[in-house]
Amino acid sequence: MKNFLSVKDVVNTELLAQQAIELKQNRFAFKQLGENKTMVLLFLNSSLRTRISTQKAAQNLGMNTIILNLNQDSWQMEYEDGAIMNGSTVEHIKEGAAVISEYADIIGIRAFPTLIDKEKDYSEYVLHKFLENVKVPVVNMESATVHPLQSLTDLMTIREHTTKPKPKVVLTWAPHIKPLPQCVSNSFAEWMNKSDIEFVITHPEGYELSEHFSGKANIIYNQEEAFENADFIYAKNWSSYTDYGQIIGNHTDWKITDKMMQLTNNAKFMHCLPTRRNIEVADDVLDSNNSLVIKQAANREFAAQIVLKNILKTI
Ligand code: CP
Repeated sequence: MKNFLSVKDVVNTELLAQQAIELKQNRFAFKQLGENKTMVLLFLNSSLRTRISTQKAAQNLGMNTIILNLNQDSWQMEYEDGAIMNGSTVEHIKEGAAVISEYADIIGIRAFPTLIDKEKDYSEYVLHKFLENVKVPVVNMESATVHPLQSLTDLMTIREHTTKPKPKVVLTWAPHIKPLPQCVSNSFAEWMNKSDIEFVITHPEGYELSEHFSGKANIIYNQEEAFENADFIYAKNWSSYTDYGQIIGNHTDWKITDKMMQLTNNAKFMHCLPTRRNIEVADDVLDSNNSLVIKQAANREFAAQIVLKNILKTI
């Protein structure tokens, strides 16, 4: 594995998830692999889980870690080629990324979408600007369109908790008070489509994901119908892809409640977190024994670690 940017960098999703589960049994077994190597984690946006779990994963492998909140702790970065930098930007990506690359053996980047410029977001403009200017492997810690570390975690968590080889997994849209990116849902969809899962997506009309990501998923607009016989409910809000970055209509009744969970096959509940309680998901669902959200978050460490381990073996 050279870079870890999306599911396209993974030959076998199920095998990688299994390797992450095995690594969990002895997280310090490969501590010599990252000795004298440094991971620089660049955050253009807030994070709790990704920031801590990826740092911990690197440290489990013996790596040094440096976290930089880009634009807050460092100079404001300019990305445009040929820019006349007489405004707020102070450092061009050409120098900035190249310099970071001198200090790092692996770079992790979090760069959310604008939710304004669809073309730019879906071209992964910022991520690609970094890739053009660094010399070391890059790990995507959530970009404009995908969140592969989260999706690997999700598959791993499903495999740990499923009682059947091919469970029914339902990705359901849930309400929110502000427009959120599509990346977690895009990514979850492409990972589920590449794995041995009966995969259903349910959302109100107007919230269709890009077909590039939803692919062969069964899309059902009736949430109650979609929940029937589900083994896993994965809730997430996302803003509209077609009416880009917008919230369409009032769909507060799409909140995940215990009543809705009763329609399922005693399904486990999943969410990448953070979640707004009693807006997206009711307390009684998050606090139930079927909620996997904390175990899911804990697995972020091992998903990141198997990715870093595979990259370290190539450098
Ligand atoms: N799920 C997730 O990526 O969480 P953070 O945004 O807190 O990193």
